[in-house]
Amino acid sequence: TAQRTLVLLKPDAVQRGLRGEIIRRLETKGYEIVALAQRTATAEELSAHYAEHEGKPFYPGLVEYMGAGPLVAIVAEGDSVIAGFRSLAGATNPTEAAPGTIRGDLAREWDLPVIQNLVHGSDSEESAAREIGIWFPELG
Ligand code: CMP
Repeated sequence: TAQRTLVLLKPDAVQRGLRGEIIRRLETKGYEIVALAQRTATAEELSAHYAEHEGKPFYPGLVEYMGAGPLVAIVAEGDSVIAGFRSLAGATNPTEAAPGTIRGDLAREWDLPVIQNLVHGSDSEESAAREIGIWFPELG
């Protein structure tokens, strides 16, 4: 079934010049890019996006990492794109992410305690609708 998902190319992806590589993987898989914008996230966007992680030990570092430079927000569309993009991304922890995945091939974690893993993808239809509303209110 056709779905939309919210993808973030996190600041480490932008800083390392990996936008093209990651977008190429999305497009060659066959997903369509419906919207794309680069900007530095506001504190409001990050606290809304990561509300479920508030209070966790890595939360302050997470917000600092995600606000440290420009990121690229993307709405991607396609059959089962929510699970499909998460397969492309690989496991959250880059050390455990399988080779062939974005994180497995490209991510390191040299700046713990925050896992810097290049990309975010919505984890459910509910999350996708909520997150698209945060980053692209005009699409809500
Ligand atoms: P993301 O999919 O954007 O959702 C929350 C982010 O927090 C996650 O990717 C990682 O960047 C980071 N994260 C998740 N779990 C941990 C953890 N256990 N320790 C450190 N960072 C984490």
